[in-house]
Amino acid sequence: MKYLVTGGAGYIGSHTALALLAAGAEVVILDNLTTGHRELAPQGVSFYQGDVGDAALLTEIFATHAIDGVLHFAAKSLVGESMRDPGGYFLANTGQTAVLLQAMAKSGVRRFVLSSTAAVYGEPEQVPIPEDHPVRPTNPYGLSKQLIEAMLPWFERVHGIRWMALRYFNVAGADPDGRSGECHEPETHLIPNVLQVAEGKREFLSLFGDDYPTPDGTCIRDYIHVSDLADAHVLALQALANRRPSGVCNLGNGQGFSVLQVVERARRVTGHPIPLRMEPRRPGDPAVLVASNARATAELGWRPRHGDLSAIIETAWRWQSRRGDKGL
Ligand code: UFG
Repeated sequence: MKYLVTGGAGYIGSHTALALLAAGAEVVILDNLTTGHRELAPQGVSFYQGDVGDAALLTEIFATHAIDGVLHFAAKSLVGESMRDPGGYFLANTGQTAVLLQAMAKSGVRRFVLSSTAAVYGEPEQVPIPEDHPVRPTNPYGLSKQLIEAMLPWFERVHGIRWMALRYFNVAGADPDGRSGECHEPETHLIPNVLQVAEGKREFLSLFGDDYPTPDGTCIRDYIHVSDLADAHVLALQALANRRPSGVCNLGNGQGFSVLQVVERARRVTGHPIPLRMEPRRPGDPAVLVASNARATAELGWRPRHGDLSAIIETAWRWQSRRGDKGL
């Protein structure tokens, strides 16, 4: 089987490309390298530098390679940035994905896996969050992904494109073999920021809000290892190949940890005191986001291999201290 991975030089796309290669598939990557890094794209893939909204390039790729399906990661993904530039998010995420789906329809590519997000749920009414929870995103990033999800049934009905939209919770960690990891500039995510303190790149961790309605006052999140997430994509493709119905699926471990609990684990893993500085709440942060992963386990047969929070932090820590070897 041969798959097109958009954003395959990014954090989640590169790990998924590794998982596809390990499963014996061939991989073609399309990445414009605005936030991705050529060094993260695995050896042995065909690589194209370009935009997902470039219809001519997509047609060329589909004509050159017998693509069995598309895994679509290329996107803007910063909630804060989306609050300042909603149009940029609707164009890059929703608009360019319409171009990609249209090119797939024209070229007869009929399987699609979308990198979606827990941000589609907004402030949850119920935790753990099941997939049938109402979708009411509170930021343009979440809405840009929800709009893609809303387009998909039409591409299925009219063009026969079968799909899975995977709603990620908090993705963290790095390839246990050190081949890829998180490399964002600027870095906004909790675990890499905490580790930057341990590494001496930051003086302290800014803790955004300790007055949430949670046991220790800090936000609770569901952290999922990026390699477990990558495995779920391979299973989603298998489910589509086995003619399971299209649909949405949460990906999270189903267990929540507060910001303070994450910091405490990171202190144990790194042996560094990791000083904190209390700061006001970050706009748009829900107090608690934890997935129900019943559908992923029952319908995809997904079993996390690195579900333990310490293991997630350890792999991220190994990557953070060695990524310089890759020139990153
Ligand atoms: N946090 C800090 N200090 C930091 C960074 C984060 O206190 O330096 C806190 C945040 O306020 C939040 C928690 O740590 O309470 C987790 O923050 P992240 O930025 O790591 O992750 P988010 O939960 O904000 O975002 C993730 C994904 C988004 C997705 C969102 C769904 O990265 O793409 O979940 O709500 F949209």
